[in-house]
Amino acid sequence: MAGPLKTSLATAAAMVGLGALVAAGVVWSGAYNVAADDPHWAPVHAVIEAARSRSITVRAAGLEPPDLADPERIRQGSGNYDAMCAGCHLAPGMAATEMSRGLYPPPPDLSRAAVEAAEAFWVIEHGIKASGMPAWGGSMDDAYIWNMVAFLQAMPSMDADQYRAMVAGSGGHDHGGGETHPHQGDGDPGHHGASADGDAGEVIEHRHADGTVESHPAPQAALPETAPDTADDGHDHQH
Ligand code: HEC
Repeated sequence: MAGPLKTSLATAAAMVGLGALVAAGVVWSGAYNVAADDPHWAPVHAVIEAARSRSITVRAAGLEPPDLADPERIRQGSGNYDAMCAGCHLAPGMAATEMSRGLYPPPPDLSRAAVEAAEAFWVIEHGIKASGMPAWGGSMDDAYIWNMVAFLQAMPSMDADQYRAMVAGSGGHDHGGGETHPHQGDGDPGHHGASADGDAGEVIEHRHADGTVESHPAPQAALPETAPDTADDGHDHQH
């Protein structure tokens, strides 16, 4: 090997070694703040954002959406959206929640702009690492996810009244098994006396196929003006 090439290879190796050492020092010192209330340093944010966006685009590329204009799909998807997503992603006429304000990265307000259909499907099925976005594919069949995607395309053109009317006529939280239906009374002692007409302020619990239970205020109470002090865990609380 010629002398100059040898020297430049050795220099490159030394620089890589130094870089790794500096990176290890930064990690070990705790200098990088992981707090959700302290946004990423701009270059870090740019890299993470590009990685997230490319990862989703590449993986969603092969997905073929069904007919998303089908009103029946949109209607069915609205009930699941209201029960499972609005607490983070909001809805027409809904004010910010503790989760929509406090999470970082922030959940986008999906009532304002539709996400490309195949990408939305992929994200709902698989979730996004190290963010608040859960993977729902474990408890929901593809057809129900597509229904929600259909609803997401329609939501930005709805006002608050249209949204509430659609959710009320949607059949509620239903994705083909796994979730419980408190209104039918299955003897689960965890229920808080939900009644068939859905009194404001009541709490509905859902048990998924994997045994996890989620609870939230009934749809009418999910809007801040009627239940300002009801957290998404269903317990009243004070600040
Ligand atoms: C606990 C809060 C939370 C819940 C509940 C939640 N999400 Fe998310 N979601 C997030 C966060 C945070 C992000 C942004 C992640 C990121 O930017 O890396 C996100 C991202 C998304 C995106 C991608 C948006 C984009 O611009 O690329 C879609 C679509 C989405 N969520 C749909 C849903 C649906 C549908 C539901 C209900 C089944 C849901 N989410 C429930 C927190 C949540």
